[in-house]
Amino acid sequence: MEKRQLGPCVTFFPQPTTLVSSVGNDGQVNIMTASWVGIVSKTPPTMAVSLNVNRATYEQIRQTGCFVVNLVPASLAVEADFCGLKSGRDEDKLIAAGLTPVPASKVAAPLLDESPLNVECVLRDEVELGEYRLLLGEIVEIHAAEQAFTESGSMDARVFDPLVYLGGIREYWNLGQKQADAYKDGKQLFEKKP
Ligand SMILES: Cc1cc2nc3c(=O)[nH]c(=O)nc-3n(C[C@H](O)[C@H](O)[C@H](O)COP(=O)(O)O)c2cc1C
Repeated sequence: MEKRQLGPCVTFFPQPTTLVSSVGNDGQVNIMTASWVGIVSKTPPTMAVSLNVNRATYEQIRQTGCFVVNLVPASLAVEADFCGLKSGRDEDKLIAAGLTPVPASKVAAPLLDESPLNVECVLRDEVELGEYRLLLGEIVEIHAAEQAFTESGSMDARVFDPLVYLGGIREYWNLGQKQADAYKDGKQLFEKKP
């Protein structure tokens, strides 16, 4: 495959689209779009979120020591883009975007009602990366949309319909078609390969 070198930059696909919700010491809640987010440990269950130090969200997370990562469904692409361009310092993005904060169960930061998957995190550590801070949040609770559960108890990804961000070319996509089951029930994908 012929390739073009892009140099040191941050082009990489796919990235999740999430809305991180937070609350300040004054009780003001905020949301911001974040795609530099991921699961980084199973024991303890941990999410990492990389935030620029200038974000209002970063300031609030430092104040109250918690945040919620809300998965963005494809139907909320416009709202997510908006929350990634405006700061909570200038306007109440929840009201402007018509999104609903509801109380979380273990942390002070709110869940986003319209999101089908909310991950409650307690800030455990922080790594300095130039203008960014990699925040390590221990997952203390997860809320998954009831309608995503099948009768057998498995989860139907179509209900979550996660919005995927292609950083570098600034496009939002949805998931597309399922390609295969990963290793499960003792069966490896590789064994099925013709
Ligand atoms: C798709 C998308 C992804 C983004 N991901 C991040 C991110 O991971 N980290 C970050 O610091 N800013 C990210 N941003 C920028 C912030 O969302 C933006 O600066 C926002 O206005 C910050 O809001 P706040 O000041 O209310 O916290 C992203 C923006 C978009 C549109």
